[in-house]
Amino acid sequence: MTTELPDAPAGPSENPPSRLSRRTFIVTTSALGGAVVADGPMAGAVPFGADDAAAADPPPSSRVSLNVNGKRHTVTVDNRTSLLDLLREHLRLTGSKKGCNAGACGACTVLVDGRRVNSCLTLAVRLEGAEVTTIEALADGGRLHPLQQAFVDQDAFQCGFCTPGQIMSGVGCIQEGHTGSAEEIREWMSGNICRCGCYVKIVRAVGQAAGRK
Ligand code: FES
Ligand code: FES
Repeated sequence: MTTELPDAPAGPSENPPSRLSRRTFIVTTSALGGAVVADGPMAGAVPFGADDAAAADPPPSSRVSLNVNGKRHTVTVDNRTSLLDLLREHLRLTGSKKGCNAGACGACTVLVDGRRVNSCLTLAVRLEGAEVTTIEALADGGRLHPLQQAFVDQDAFQCGFCTPGQIMSGVGCIQEGHTGSAEEIREWMSGNICRCGCYVKIVRAVGQAAGRK
């Protein structure tokens, strides 16, 4: 024998009992979901998923024109794009490495208007008209840059992950004139971390390229 669930008793402030049983009501609302809400007392409420739709709006973006390794590039990027991501993801220049992505390792070092910077901390949209030099531009055809050659001569790397950043930082260090002694080179190269521990040879390589004996 089938037992029907009784209608809920109406309280003093409730509407008169409907002809729908509780079971029928639950089944109907489960099946129709938001449609019931749309016709009911919450009509006009924000439907489920509206937040997701808003979140799917494209983030603010800007156009920026800059010179990278002597070549003009005009790109439209998300305003939050770092120079490192612009180089690696948009321009496919993957020599600059993403180590920490937080300004702590120096693997992403490039030159901007001749000054060494951590490209992971530099917003691309702030570089309108800037001159960017990356590791890809150092060699002259088949001839290595003197500091690249010095890294080879001094055996100043093992895994090589930090090496592009070390070399770009070394180029900056030499241009800045901070090569008076091994201690000075070590101090001015201290923002570049080498997990393989090649520091002694890196300092020697920078010294060699700077013309130190
Ligand atoms: Fe930029 Fe580490 S990746 S400082
Ligand atoms: Fe491996 Fe520097 S050579 S991290």
